[in-house]
Amino acid sequence: MQEELNNLKNQAIAAIMEAKSVAELEQIRIDYLGRNGKITTEIKKIKKLKPDEKKNVGRLINEAMSTLAKTLAEQKLSFSQSAKHWFDATIPGEKPALGHLHLVTQAAAEVTAIFEKIGFTRVRYPEVEWDWYAFEALNMPQGHPARDEWETFFINLPEDKKYGKVVLTPHTSSGQIREMERVKARPPIRMINIAKCYRRQSDATHVPMFHQFEGLVVDKGINITNLKGTLDYFGKKLYGSKSVSRIRPFNFKFTEPSFEVDFRCVHCDGKGCKFCKSGWHEVGGAGMVHPNVLKAGGIDPGVYSGFAFGWGLERVYLLKPGLNINDIRTVYRTNLAYLEQL
Ligand code: PHE
Repeated sequence: MQEELNNLKNQAIAAIMEAKSVAELEQIRIDYLGRNGKITTEIKKIKKLKPDEKKNVGRLINEAMSTLAKTLAEQKLSFSQSAKHWFDATIPGEKPALGHLHLVTQAAAEVTAIFEKIGFTRVRYPEVEWDWYAFEALNMPQGHPARDEWETFFINLPEDKKYGKVVLTPHTSSGQIREMERVKARPPIRMINIAKCYRRQSDATHVPMFHQFEGLVVDKGINITNLKGTLDYFGKKLYGSKSVSRIRPFNFKFTEPSFEVDFRCVHCDGKGCKFCKSGWHEVGGAGMVHPNVLKAGGIDPGVYSGFAFGWGLERVYLLKPGLNINDIRTVYRTNLAYLEQL
């Protein structure tokens, strides 16, 4: 009897350990501890036993029942815990959110790539700059009224005898002189200078901090056809093969002759539409480098000539078909939902 009980108990424990579900555990409980369970029926046999045996067997049955109940409970708990920790390795992973470059960074990269194809190199020069580089060396002496066009921010620092006040670069043309100094009187120069510019201005088409890209080419025999060819090439690369450029006479102190540059509207092919009104988009200035500027940069204007152009990066880029942004300030919004669309 005692041995029989031990066997029953061990069988039951083995079955519990092999059970694979809560339903199987419940079946085992019924099989052993239910009303007609294998252990329950043992209880009924106690009556027939001798008094000294009764006590022993009774204790054994009690012990077997409580052991089985405890083992069942433990096993049930381990099922529910592993259900919580269970993980399905076949479910596709969660992709981490990937950001992208800001529109202005994309624009700088694209403009750089276009000019690199025809031998230009991107350079960077100081944004906190001397008056001399921003104005004086560009043929705009102290007090010249032309300076008023660049609503300049001045830095509160002592003036230098030669270089004057410290300013935040109001245009990338200051990089022209820096680049001429770099080549130490020995061109060729084919630079593209993309940098932040600062002016005291703010409306739908102007922000106090914006970007310009400045092209400068200096070599022997450079003339206006080289400038015009470069403009056409750039327009076709950025705006598409139908792009046409146009230069109009203008006045800058640092170029002679000077021009304003327009690109024909790619939305209406110059017919006039809500984007361009006149059929053309003005992008900025250009011209043949003034001999005084070459001299200020240490280059002999009797031997070398050059052309330069300087345009707003945001402005030029926003004219690309498809972007459809007409307020430059939106480019500088920090709203993520908006930026994600750019
Ligand atoms: N620096 C001029 C501007 O800010 C643009 C320009 C650059 C014009 C080079 C001529 C040549 O408006």
